[in-house]
Amino acid sequence: MEKMIVANHKMNMILPDVLEYIDKVSSISNRLIVCPSSIYIPYFVSSGFEVGIQNIYVGDNGAYTGEISAKQAKSVGVSYVIVGHSERRKVFSESDELINHKVKIALQNGLNVILCVGENEGEDYKEVIKKQIIFGLKDVTLPVLITYEPAWAIGSKQLPSNEKIIEVVDYIKSFFDYDVKVLYGGSVDENEAPTLSKVNNLDGFIVGLSSTDYDELITIREVL
Ligand code: PGA
Repeated sequence: MEKMIVANHKMNMILPDVLEYIDKVSSISNRLIVCPSSIYIPYFVSSGFEVGIQNIYVGDNGAYTGEISAKQAKSVGVSYVIVGHSERRKVFSESDELINHKVKIALQNGLNVILCVGENEGEDYKEVIKKQIIFGLKDVTLPVLITYEPAWAIGSKQLPSNEKIIEVVDYIKSFFDYDVKVLYGGSVDENEAPTLSKVNNLDGFIVGLSSTDYDELITIREVL
């Protein structure tokens, strides 16, 4: 089966560029999951893309100025949500407990959860990932997708070796009694794609900054 590509735009792009991007990338719209800035989600949904949201809040509605719920995301056609991204853990101090709530409310609302796990520079990946999976998925009974995103590889142009990715992916899979899908994210770009394409126990990739360049994204899709 073709590997999944998740384009995580983060807080990038402004409107005229988004429309040009949609036009250029539409030829591969059915071979991607795009996670744009939330305000652009309807443009992608109405252009036929499969869309993920980069974050949700817990609760269905209420007095949470500035937040978006899983229920609202679902209502506009979103089908995936990224939870536990290292930028959310670090910049927004998200705990495994909050992440666990987000996972549950997303699943209750019918969203597919992409749970990100991974160590910071110098940390023992086994210890960190075990904790993130056990606490992040506490009392979760429905399947989720996992992304291995070592924080030190995000936006740094420094990647783990293929051997290291294979080892970590096997470790992640050992926690699940179903055939969990595991993705890799962190400095995936057109130069690294040929090497990464050889990691055979992965189900896909999250592409951050490089996914905002439509030519590069199309190249990455072809290679991976
Ligand atoms: P990057 O980001 O590809 O820019 O390293 C990946 C991610 O944070 O999902």
